[in-house]
Amino acid sequence: MSKLFPPPSMVVLTLTITLFSFLLTAAPTTGYRPWPQNPQTKNLTDYAFGTSKKYEGSSEFVKLRYHMGPVLTNIITVHTIWYGNWQRSQKKIIREFINSISAKNSPNPSVSGWWKTVMLYTDQTGSNISNTVQLGSEKNDRFYSHGKTLTRLTIQSVIKSAITAKTKPLPINPRSGLYLLLTSDDVYVQDFCTSACGFHYFTFPSLVGYTLPYAWVGNSAKLCPGMCAYPFAVPEYIPNVKPFKSPNGDVGVDGMISVIGHEIAELASNPLANAWYAGSDPSFPVEIADLCEGIYGTGGGGSYTGQVLDARDGATYNMNGIRRKFLVQWLWSHVLNYCTGPNALDH
Ligand SMILES: *[C@@H]1O[C@H](CO)[C@@H](O)[C@H](O)[C@H]1NC(C)=O
Ligand SMILES: *[C@@H]1O[C@H](CO)[C@@H](O)[C@H](O)[C@H]1NC(C)=O
Repeated sequence: MSKLFPPPSMVVLTLTITLFSFLLTAAPTTGYRPWPQNPQTKNLTDYAFGTSKKYEGSSEFVKLRYHMGPVLTNIITVHTIWYGNWQRSQKKIIREFINSISAKNSPNPSVSGWWKTVMLYTDQTGSNISNTVQLGSEKNDRFYSHGKTLTRLTIQSVIKSAITAKTKPLPINPRSGLYLLLTSDDVYVQDFCTSACGFHYFTFPSLVGYTLPYAWVGNSAKLCPGMCAYPFAVPEYIPNVKPFKSPNGDVGVDGMISVIGHEIAELASNPLANAWYAGSDPSFPVEIADLCEGIYGTGGGGSYTGQVLDARDGATYNMNGIRRKFLVQWLWSHVLNYCTGPNALDH
């Protein structure tokens, strides 16, 4: 079992897969973000004209497999920790996205339609991932309890502080709770902006007292919007590419929405790093959202987002939630064997 507890530097349940060259050769579907290190981004011609030959991640090389561990089949409750300085309006956008996952009445294409791909995954007993994702309790960590620079280990300490707080501690819910740590735009987290916009894992009983699936997602507005809020911001080294207008008027938070979706989908399908992933190394799993990073619509791949929608105000989105629009990356369907989403035109 000790294999389940690799040293933090090896814990790469993250958005970092673009960096590993073995994947570039093994799976042509590696996700897209404009990391400076990404060989794709070195070819600016390719950027400007979107001459990618990838197509919605479809590949005969992807061998997504089930490794016999649990998936989240009970009602999923997301407990949020707001770390640092969060505005009320920013919290509202994020809460409404999470509430939209199981909303019944959003017009198509909808966030709940996007979640249907997650629900296709089952555990050993044939039980599907839950159709219900709900907001749980929230904790404000306004005064940066562990400073403005966090590591993968101090993140677990932040979660421990939240579940052991003297007033209104977050509930302890290892069976169907997800712990979502959101850091404000003045907080640096290990690997943020160089290889990750967020990641997920589970807490160690030795540190936190429990095994709790958690994710961290950072607001990149100040540190690296061109990477983590792409395509609502574009890095300086890519000339002649205009950013898309973001649907909720907050580039950092609108960029976080897709990363939050990415992490929640992977937590549901691989909460303890032993359920659904591709690749032979559980320390470098490629999970259902990693496979489709950067793909938001039909034809997407490489630096091209795929066919997305224009809102009346000129903002770009691909799905509707409660009262709002969002741009969220697609997910791998093991039934279709390619990436899909609610705005797919051809399937
Ligand atoms: C960049 O991409 C373009 C179009 O795909 C190609 O013609 C050109 O040779 C590439 N340049 C380099 C340096 O790879
Ligand atoms: C449950 O998963 C199976 C296998 O992927 C799928 O055929 C079925 O449609 C899923 N059920 C729901 C409600 O999504």
